[in-house]
Amino acid sequence: MAESGNIPQFPQAFWRDSVSLPDFPKLNESIKTEVAVVGGGITGITAAYLLSKQGKKVTLIDAGYLLNGVTGHTTAKITAQHGIIYDEFIQHFGQDKASQYYQAGMDAKQFIEDTIETHHIDCDYREEDAYIFTNSNDYVSQLETEMKAYEQLDIPGELTSGMPLDIPVESALKMDKQAQFHPLKYLKVLVDEAVKNGLEIYEQTTATDIEHNKHPSIVTRDGHRINCNYAIQASHFPFYDGGGFYPARMYPERSYIVAVKTPEQFPGGMYINAESPTRSIRSATMDGEELWLIAGENHKTGQGKSTIKYYEALQEFAENKFGISEFVYRWSAQDLTTMDKLPYIGPVTKDEENVFVATGYRKWGMTNGTIAAQLISNRILCKDNPYSELYAPSRFQADPDFRQFTKMNTDVAKHMIRGKLEYTNDNVKDLKSDNATVTRVNGQRTGVYKDKNNELYAVDTTCKHLGCEVNWNSGDRTWDCPCHGSRYSYTGEVIEGPAKEPLNKVDLD
Ligand code: FES
Repeated sequence: MAESGNIPQFPQAFWRDSVSLPDFPKLNESIKTEVAVVGGGITGITAAYLLSKQGKKVTLIDAGYLLNGVTGHTTAKITAQHGIIYDEFIQHFGQDKASQYYQAGMDAKQFIEDTIETHHIDCDYREEDAYIFTNSNDYVSQLETEMKAYEQLDIPGELTSGMPLDIPVESALKMDKQAQFHPLKYLKVLVDEAVKNGLEIYEQTTATDIEHNKHPSIVTRDGHRINCNYAIQASHFPFYDGGGFYPARMYPERSYIVAVKTPEQFPGGMYINAESPTRSIRSATMDGEELWLIAGENHKTGQGKSTIKYYEALQEFAENKFGISEFVYRWSAQDLTTMDKLPYIGPVTKDEENVFVATGYRKWGMTNGTIAAQLISNRILCKDNPYSELYAPSRFQADPDFRQFTKMNTDVAKHMIRGKLEYTNDNVKDLKSDNATVTRVNGQRTGVYKDKNNELYAVDTTCKHLGCEVNWNSGDRTWDCPCHGSRYSYTGEVIEGPAKEPLNKVDLD
């Protein structure tokens, strides 16, 4: 936690700081299991919970620690209001599929609610109306069109010129009866329940590949194997794409959250604006006191300004609109958006029915992660799921939107070339502590970070995924790749994939 009013020096998510999670060992041998889950976030844990409850032998591994990825850094809104999306989905997929998307989100909310009731989970769950608001004329008409989509799809809501939150708005679109919670308090209980049902968990165990004999075999970085009947990739970016070209069909975006106390009382509701920069607002409870969570400032990973500036922009917004009496936490998250904005959930390719992928949640992971866990579990349990076709990853093989495809790849090519041509004359000796620079060492583009004790850490900035050049993220003290969102610590260790190997270290002597 931080000193009042100032931006905390180091990022830390409120969710993680307010729950203590059990530790699990590292995998030190090859094993056999029925279902192997890779990734200990909401998708992997919910799937492990559902499958272990049905008697399946499940093993879950995580490259780091449970709930320390996107789920540990979310805003934790449980909603089917995923921005202005329904009119677009009606145009792109038709009314039935747009309606299914809403229903899937509401089913996920119901599942979370039922699970909380079943296990008496105390996780600050609260039903709230969700609002998209705007002060831009362009978006006023878009909200009107979106309201018509709500009417067409029978989504309960209304267009209004005022909200419980006291900030000026031209127009706001309400979706009734959505919800929020403390995601880690909820998921900790699912972990406990699944472990009681026989779930085995291994942390600090990185999956690097899947090999196929009769069944899938997950290969770990340490060379061990998890032989299984089914493999679920719930690892955010799929570490194995089976030729499905996922890196070319999704782009990563970072966003930022600040948690502050204000002199004002939170009036209820969950809010997000329509225009850029994004401003998303909800409350949470910390030791009986109210925290305001203010999120936004999305940008493509590894691109844009110095990342601490994004936190400063949120701080300024909070200060101007509500006043800050204490700045308590700051943290950031990253998520992936697919070409058509629908997640990819299902078999990784048409030919690999027992290797699953769940990704591309577009920052709406609480509902989409829950949907993915149910859908994939149903498939493994040979049960029907009404949403299989909607989210099928194989749909992109037929997606005609090649302009978007080309644009994304042009962007990647641009970063590959620009990064390699860039030259800096920065002298490492002049580097201030807790700062980083990019320089050349023996002709090789090299990133150098100097820590608080003036210790230098130098890494080759060539990303181990497909060779783009990573850039410094000053807010999180990480090296981030602008192409597909891989992130590395200042020592070069992988924090987020698709990269599987650490950056090469560079000797400065
Ligand atoms: Fe793909 Fe870096 S993440 S090249």
